[in-house]
Amino acid sequence: MTQPEFRQVDSPFRSHVAGVGSYLPEGVLTNKDLEKLVDTNDQWIVERTGIQRRHMAAPHQATSDLAYEATLKALKMAHLTAQDIDMIIVATVSGDQVMPSTACVLQHRLGCRTIMAFDILAACSGFVYALSIADNFIRTGMYKNILVVGGEVLHRFVNYKDRETCILFGDAAGAWILSRTEASNPQKIMSSHLHADGGLGELFVLPGGGSRMPFSQEVLDNKKQYVTMKGREIFKNAVRTLTQCCHEALDFNGVNATEVDWLVPHQANVRILESVADHFEFPKEKVVMSLHETGNTSAASIPVAFDLAVQEGKIKRGQLILLAAFGAGLTSGSLLLRY
Ligand code: UT7
Repeated sequence: MTQPEFRQVDSPFRSHVAGVGSYLPEGVLTNKDLEKLVDTNDQWIVERTGIQRRHMAAPHQATSDLAYEATLKALKMAHLTAQDIDMIIVATVSGDQVMPSTACVLQHRLGCRTIMAFDILAACSGFVYALSIADNFIRTGMYKNILVVGGEVLHRFVNYKDRETCILFGDAAGAWILSRTEASNPQKIMSSHLHADGGLGELFVLPGGGSRMPFSQEVLDNKKQYVTMKGREIFKNAVRTLTQCCHEALDFNGVNATEVDWLVPHQANVRILESVADHFEFPKEKVVMSLHETGNTSAASIPVAFDLAVQEGKIKRGQLILLAAFGAGLTSGSLLLRY
């Protein structure tokens, strides 16, 4: 999986995680609630996925509203204000609208300066993609404080008559502030590695509403405005790819798995994460899991899992953390950092 001629930018500057925050909307959809919508049951969902409930945005809430709440918490932890932010990236597949970007909506709501702001679409790998982009802008010396958000209101793109998908997804946002630090500071992002395999894109799609399949009555009748997936195929690819991503990060840094304090993977399915731990030969107790509470929140999944682990006192300053992502595209990536 190593990229040809891959190297990281050599620079006196690195990024450190100055603040983190997350927001879960108040509304909750339990497995029991889903039993009333589709032919499923609590036991099947818990055994096959580990998910017990997922949070749902209120009708008046869009992705930027969730992102805003998460950002306020991250800014507070970083002891910064919106005026200090130099750039905003929002990773999402469920932005407020096609355009303008959710990042621009967020920039205005936060009252930032006229800083650059844009969305990226790398599905469940979006947050790691966005962190890598932000890290490289900091390494070049161009910017000092960058806001990176993963936010989703996925439930508006889920068919609550499709039992294979509707049990999985939830709404949430997570935000990080990356700030410039010296390369000699041990608390920094150490590496990021990103991948995509477009040849497997058809495994997980949301085709309706794009330029190939613009909205029409036919699109709505055929439910093409919702996500569909080949669950079993994604499962197999997720285990293989996440494991490869973990190895790639450690090999690049010459780090042993025993040195890693926490693995924070994309929260897709407990069985996927347990299988990755087995293949990676990594203790399951050190894999951060929050999907029993959140479900799969795509780009929000890693920052939300991370923040909940910080709030629970699991993840602490100075620890070595490995992020591993996998999602539609198929995209994947890893990021190793000392928090
Ligand atoms: O960010 C990435 C997003 N996607 C994913 O993470 C998806 C990854 N895949 C998965 O998590 C799992 O494949 C699922 C949870 C989607 C499905 O679990 P599985 O163990 O792979 O089940 P399966 O697809 O092999 O289906 C087993 C049975 C089937 O019935 P038959 O054919 O054996 O009679 C399904 O129709 O389970 C049935 N089934 C359900 N039963 C109750 C499928 N969904 C449900 C359901 N409730 N919700």
